[in-house]
Amino acid sequence: MTASVNDLITLTPKDSCNTQLAAGPWDFDTVPGYGPGSSQADQLPDPVSRPGQLPERYQLMSDTELDERIAAAKATLGEELVILGHFYQRDEVVKYADFVGDSFQLAKAALSRPEAKTIVFCGVHFMAETADILSDTDQSVILPNLAAGCSMADMADESSVETAWEEICEIYGVDPDAEGKLPILPVTYMNSSAALKAFCGRHGGIVCTSSNAATVLEWAFERAHRVLFFPDQHLGRNTAKAMGVPLEQMPLWNPRKALGGNTEDQLREAKVLLWHGFCSVHRRFTVDQITQARAADPQVKIIVHPECPMEVVDAADASGSTDAIQKFIAAASPGDSIGIGTEINMVNRLAAQYPDRSIFCLDPVICPCSTMYRIHPGYLAWVLEELVEGRVNNQISVDPQVASHAKIALDRMLAAKPKA
Ligand code: 13P
Ligand code: SF4
Repeated sequence: MTASVNDLITLTPKDSCNTQLAAGPWDFDTVPGYGPGSSQADQLPDPVSRPGQLPERYQLMSDTELDERIAAAKATLGEELVILGHFYQRDEVVKYADFVGDSFQLAKAALSRPEAKTIVFCGVHFMAETADILSDTDQSVILPNLAAGCSMADMADESSVETAWEEICEIYGVDPDAEGKLPILPVTYMNSSAALKAFCGRHGGIVCTSSNAATVLEWAFERAHRVLFFPDQHLGRNTAKAMGVPLEQMPLWNPRKALGGNTEDQLREAKVLLWHGFCSVHRRFTVDQITQARAADPQVKIIVHPECPMEVVDAADASGSTDAIQKFIAAASPGDSIGIGTEINMVNRLAAQYPDRSIFCLDPVICPCSTMYRIHPGYLAWVLEELVEGRVNNQISVDPQVASHAKIALDRMLAAKPKA
């Protein structure tokens, strides 16, 4: 089996969730819509980054030439450069990353090489923003393709969250009780804009990732009676449910409806207000897929990402962040069969890395995260060769005021420790 999703999509486009994925990302960076693949049904954010600026010569280069150019530019830049790569990146890009990890590990990796002049982030926009906020001010952070966003992050924009917060504070008030506990505080998933991280920083809130969501919710419940959790309803629900919060105390907040679509009484009883957001990739996983995998092999083990719907997480044997999934596979034994509910690039890489285990994606359709997929090697070659010439392209630079508030919420996350 080939590990490269790029090869699979190019050779068998009919098996992918969208045939357009076989084209270079520059073809769809310029057309209306939010990009093909898993995010195609998503709402178009406004404004959307659609630069389509990759010089034509990079679009026409063969895979081999791109590979050679990336390797040569990286070697020339040496210690000046650090490349960070998320697990969901395609193999052709991941192989050049100095650090490969989940979003929490990559946030910490951004802090780990202060001597490097440039961080090239092969991931999505919110990850590069976080690296810019956490890294030294004289370091530049580059996102090779500025159109690599995250459809889930776009589901919570600053003005909708501000409006929701005003409504919420009218109901609960803003003053702490006699023990110093706030009525409510905001928790944002890492998959959100810097502006929303700053919002959390300003309102006593915190950031979480899929690997520390329970620790962060414990931190929040020590300081407040309830939380507003955004943008991913599934991570919020799955985490709070595992901590014992009843479903009736987790109303959904629909930003298009008054009081999020709830009554005042419902909100007074609430512990976790869940923003109406989701990941298009993880929403594709179903209980049926798990049932079929078990029917085919009763010994199969199933692990899914906590961005999957609650019924899927409940039906699986385990759930966890991309790093937890990787560790689960590493700890399995030769001969084990494991079905995974997460993005296909990562699943295929694990399958290639552990050929003695039978590892497969629960979703039978090849469906990469279409925004992660936008970091094509052509963009990586271009930004690296520009750096060699002394030019910084596609820099992610968070407004200093926003960054200072966002850093408060990120530092709270980095300092939060699980209860002994
Ligand atoms: P991880 O934090 O588990 O890497 O997840 C990030 C993400 O975007 C998953 O969709
Ligand atoms: Fe966003 Fe989902 Fe892609 Fe993760 S997999 S970056 S949540 S769209």
